[in-house]
Order: sequence, then structure tokens, then C-alpha cells
Amino acid sequence: MPLGDADARLLAAARRAAAAVNEERFMRRIEALAQIGGLPNGGVDRPAFSDTERAATDLFAQWMHEAGLTVRYDRFGNMFGSSDGNAPNVSVAAAGSHLDTVPCGGRYDGVIGCIGALETIDAMRDAGITPTMPMEVVVWRAEEPYRFMQGRVGSLIFAGKLATADLVHRGEPFDVEASLNADGGRPVRASGRTLVSLLELHIEQGKRLQDAGRVIGVVTAISGTTRLKIAVTGMADHSGATPMELRHDALCAAAEIVLAVEQAGLAEPMPESVATTAILSVTPGAMNVVPGSAELFLDIRGTETARIQRMVDAITEEAEVIAGRRSVNLAISSLTRGTPVMLEPAMVTSIERTANALGYLPMRMASGAGHDVQSVADRTRVGMIFVPSKGGVSHAPHEFTSSADIASGIRVLAAEWVCTSLQVHDCGTG
Ligand code: GLV
Ligand code: MN
Ligand code: MN
Repeated sequence: MPLGDADARLLAAARRAAAAVNEERFMRRIEALAQIGGLPNGGVDRPAFSDTERAATDLFAQWMHEAGLTVRYDRFGNMFGSSDGNAPNVSVAAAGSHLDTVPCGGRYDGVIGCIGALETIDAMRDAGITPTMPMEVVVWRAEEPYRFMQGRVGSLIFAGKLATADLVHRGEPFDVEASLNADGGRPVRASGRTLVSLLELHIEQGKRLQDAGRVIGVVTAISGTTRLKIAVTGMADHSGATPMELRHDALCAAAEIVLAVEQAGLAEPMPESVATTAILSVTPGAMNVVPGSAELFLDIRGTETARIQRMVDAITEEAEVIAGRRSVNLAISSLTRGTPVMLEPAMVTSIERTANALGYLPMRMASGAGHDVQSVADRTRVGMIFVPSKGGVSHAPHEFTSSADIASGIRVLAAEWVCTSLQVHDCGTG
């Protein structure tokens, strides 16, 4: 089908923005962020609500300011850089990701989505393109479940789907409200600003792109995550004086449950259906005591609710059988129950077309990892672009994506975002 005038103008602008993406500039920024919370092994440890997170967001705020954006915050500390001076009651086309990391994580997860959005703003300016619709770079806070037992905290709070009072702390609890109050003097994002679209560039965190020899992935679905806590109570006893047959060893029961969790995931045919025992803690944890209690934290995911439920049911049933056989008590509680998100087909097609227009052969794929776009997908048009993760590794220090692949992802993001930000005017008059 021949392109209309409006389409041709959009495409030309999108190509100009993509061509203005500056690899040296964005890699310098990725490198600077990697130093904040940087570890000797090359990884990064940058929890939300830490000094390193503050330093990274402050540096990013400075870059946004230099790029001509107006930097504002919401009460939870999500950060927004707007192209329109932060006017109230306007619709904005947004893009972004997060700057916090998992414990001992990598330097690309989240970072490339923030850097890519900022690079787009710089590239548009360099290419002389002025948006018709206001644009906003978004840095979501606490995407990773590092300080809390759940992720995407900032975007969920933004969407009104979570309150700070509901947060379950992981590790040392801290006073979230006191921390937020301390930030009370920061400039506030104007009311009535509505996200009409939200794009996120991210590393794939799997190895399908690498295996297929492709550079651009277009996300069609994002897994939902159910998190469970299983508390096992047995009986602490002397590890030398208690005969084997008289024990109620909580850790042995927990060990069997760990394998049952693995089995529930293995029994599912879809690669996105997965079940993990992510954390196991044992008390009292002394060399001469039979463990009296154990706590397991489970992360169960899939792109179909029925499959997630089937894994939860299988794990629950098997855990009860194990507990009965070993005469220990179980308490199973649900921490989060996320729903999978299917991305709007029109958005998937649009990103695919943009990638094709830039000469890439994009690949459709589901995301096993959770992402902030998920939190607002029921009220905003969301889209996600993936670039390859070397060896499929992420959430680890050796997470790696080449600068050439990041550049490709940013070009697609820039072209797509430019189209969104110009479309209102061009399509309306073309
Ligand atoms: C975020 O990385 C998640 O998938 O938990
Ligand atoms: Mn992550
Ligand atoms: Mn991420």
C-alpha cells in the first residue's frame, strides 16, 4: 500500500531521529551510571531508596535538564522529564524504564530504557524535530523487588493499584513514609497529565533473539507473577541426640517442596510458565540443631492465568502431602497475584513496521520478566522493544548487550516515539 503524505512525513522524521542517535553519547551515560553502585566484578548494586539510587536519579535528572526537559516527581519518587514545561491537564507520549537494580545485578536492565528515552530527546533536537504532543521521559522507582517483596512498585503506585502501606519489606524494614516526606521539597509533577502511550526499551533477558540472530524483539505479552510464602514449622531439636526417625525437620520438608516447585514448572509445556523458589531461610541456623522452621518465597509466572493457577494448585497440593508425611505444619500465603498482559496488536504491528522501515527484521516474543509498562497497560497504549542479552543472562554482573545492539534498539524506540509525538498533528491534517 503506498504511503500517504502524512505517513511519508512521519517516516522521514522518524528516520532523521533514528539517524541522529549518538552511540558515543549514550554509551558515556551508561558507563557513568554503571559506576554508581558499581561492584568490582562489573555488576551493579543499586537498591531503590539507597544513596546510590539517589545519586543515579540525580545524575539522570541533570542530563534531562541539560536536554531541555523539565524535571518533576510524584510523591513516590517516580521521576518525569517533560518537553512542555510540565503544564497541567495535557496528554503526553511517554517512554522510560527504571534505574534501580536487583542485588548484585547488571548494568543494562532498566538503564537502557531510560537512556534510550533521553537519547531520543537529544536526537530529536539534533535532527530539528519538535514534538506536536508533549513527550515525557519516565524513570520509575523500585521496579525490582529488592527493598520490597514485589516489583514495579513505583508504576503500580502511579497507576493507583498499590499503596505504600501494603508493601512487604524484604530484609531490614525502613520507614518509607519518612523517606518520602524527606523528599517532600522536590518539584511536583502537575496534575491532570495523562499518559496516552508508554514505550519501553529493554534487554530481552532471555536468549531467543541471540539464537535467532535477530536484533529487535517486539513484545506481544508480559507474564503475570504470583508470589507465595510458605512457612514450614517442624520442631527444633538436638542434631546429635535426636534419632533420625523422631525428627520433624523443617528444612528437609522445605527441600522436598523446592523440588515440587521445580516439578510444577517443568510439567508446563509453555516456556513462559515457570516456577521458582527464590528465597529459603531456615531457623535457628545453628550447627547442632535440627532446623525447626523454614520459610520459602516462591515466584510463579506465565502468560496465561490458567497455567499460573495450575502451577499454584500443584505446588499447594504437593506441599500439603509432604507436610503430612513429615508431620510438619504449613502456612501458605499469597503475597502478590499479578495478571499477564497482552499488548495491543495495533501497537505491536506499529513497532514492527517501524523496525522494518529502519531495515531490521523484528521478532515477536513474550516477556517472561515483568516490566513497568504492565502496570498501566489497561489504561494507556503500551509497547515494548527488546534487544539481545548475551547468553540470555540478566540480573547478574555478566549481563551484557553490545553498544551496537543498544543503538539499534534506541533507533527503533526513537522512530516509534517520534511518530507518536507527531502523529496527532500530521495525521489530523494529512
Ligand atoms: C523484574 O525484573 C522481574 O521480572 O521481576
Ligand atoms: Mn530486572
Ligand atoms: Mn527491568
